[in-house]
Amino acid sequence: MGSELIYRGHEPQPHDGDGGYLPKPPKRCGWLSRPLRYLLGEQRLLFVLVGMALASLVFVLLPRAPPAAGSAVGAHVMVDLVRRSAAAGVGGGYYNHREALPARRFVGGKVPLGLKRKGLRIVVTGGAGFVGSHLVDRLLARGDSVIVVDNFFTGKKENVMHHFGNPNFELIRHDVVEPLLLEVDQIYHLACPASPVHYKFNPIKTIKTNVVGTLNMLGLAKRVGARFLLTSTSEVYGDPLQHPQVETYWGNVNPIGVRSCYDEGKRTAETLAMDYHRGAHVEVRIARIFNTYGPRMCIDDGRVVSNFVAQALRKEPMTVYGDGKQTRSFQYVSDLVEGLMRLMEGEHVGPFNLGNPGEFTMLELAKVVQETIEPNARIEFRPNTEDDPHKRKPDITKAKELLGWEPKISLRQGLPLMVSDFRKRISGDHSSSDAATAGSSTGTS
Ligand SMILES: NC(=O)c1ccc[n+]([C@@H]2O[C@H](COP(=O)([O-])OP(=O)(O)OC[C@H]3O[C@@H](n4cnc5c(N)ncnc54)[C@H](O)[C@@H]3O)[C@@H](O)[C@H]2O)c1
Repeated sequence: MGSELIYRGHEPQPHDGDGGYLPKPPKRCGWLSRPLRYLLGEQRLLFVLVGMALASLVFVLLPRAPPAAGSAVGAHVMVDLVRRSAAAGVGGGYYNHREALPARRFVGGKVPLGLKRKGLRIVVTGGAGFVGSHLVDRLLARGDSVIVVDNFFTGKKENVMHHFGNPNFELIRHDVVEPLLLEVDQIYHLACPASPVHYKFNPIKTIKTNVVGTLNMLGLAKRVGARFLLTSTSEVYGDPLQHPQVETYWGNVNPIGVRSCYDEGKRTAETLAMDYHRGAHVEVRIARIFNTYGPRMCIDDGRVVSNFVAQALRKEPMTVYGDGKQTRSFQYVSDLVEGLMRLMEGEHVGPFNLGNPGEFTMLELAKVVQETIEPNARIEFRPNTEDDPHKRKPDITKAKELLGWEPKISLRQGLPLMVSDFRKRISGDHSSSDAATAGSSTGTS
């Protein structure tokens, strides 16, 4: 009744029949679920499809820019995380996406906004030693930040003291046989006594340094994603049956001799480096260094060049072991440092022979020392030492071709530079004369 009172229209009011209830008309596509009906209604699906097509078009047409340095770092950090979780057993499988890794230089963590990274962060193990300290000089001069890790077994603070106060230089007294964590981009792994007098002094420590020390540094490289360079040696060729020595030659090494702690230690270090490269995707570089000489060598380390020079300066007879016809090739230290840096920055794993192919017999070397220091210096023959290789000469074709490297400084040019350094040190070190005997049990290394 009430509804009739307020109805103003002229058409008859719809009658709701008996109970006043009119059933709703059946919905279109009622058999579809409610969300689907919503999507299909009012051309919503069409709009979604058009939107997707437009987005795809934009991505396809955008020019592909090379990844920026920052994004490469990000990618690498991410990949490193994946790799770490894989190594920790997360996900079960072993990470194997090395090919996807972008080329990168900085890996030692993300740089916070507003901080500018200068150069690379580089650790040099054995950086207070002879070769290491020259390498540190070059890296710092290039603008990199360098951390020297050394236990001072054969190295000296004096070799790097001129960098004290340089904010880019740090020195850590540490034995590489113990693990160490540092955030760095590159690791030059030199820590190991190199002269027979030193490495035979404690052979167990020498092989530990080569094996455990190298394992620790490779572990660090894996953990922080750093590139790792191993300074191996021509001693891996032992007493070679092939001459000159090419990198493909596997060597002729006595595994149980008095020099084996060094020779076999370095061979194992190479094996470890390659296994970390193949199995854990660490970027490794391997240098096989041939006899190197120059300023800052230990005066009485028993290596043939330092021996002859120190003896001639002290007016002592130069001791030649055996008949003096065994050969060595001598490389000036700056040539070696250049080779190491090219190897580290290049794309080739190696191993690479780094040495000067100029070959000298011990008697010829003694003659050059006589010419440089003292024409009347005497030569004294002694019985040769055990396992002293007869010949040594690098074939450096591979380094020439792939690294664009070859030595520049001849023995006659380099020797005077070493002599002036030795002269200063010997004249300022009166205690060194009693240490001269240390060289008496040495060979031609
Ligand atoms: N100089 C060469 O003719 C020659 C030839 C072949 C290979 N190499 C290699 O080059 C590298 C450097 O040789 P080098 O001539 O400068 O020798 P070096 O003895 O002058 O330097 C080695 C440095 O390593 C440090 N060291 C040794 N054991 C260590 C340890 N456990 N933990 C931390 N530091 C340690 C020493 O204190 C020293 O500073 C060595 O690995 C050596 O085997 C050198």
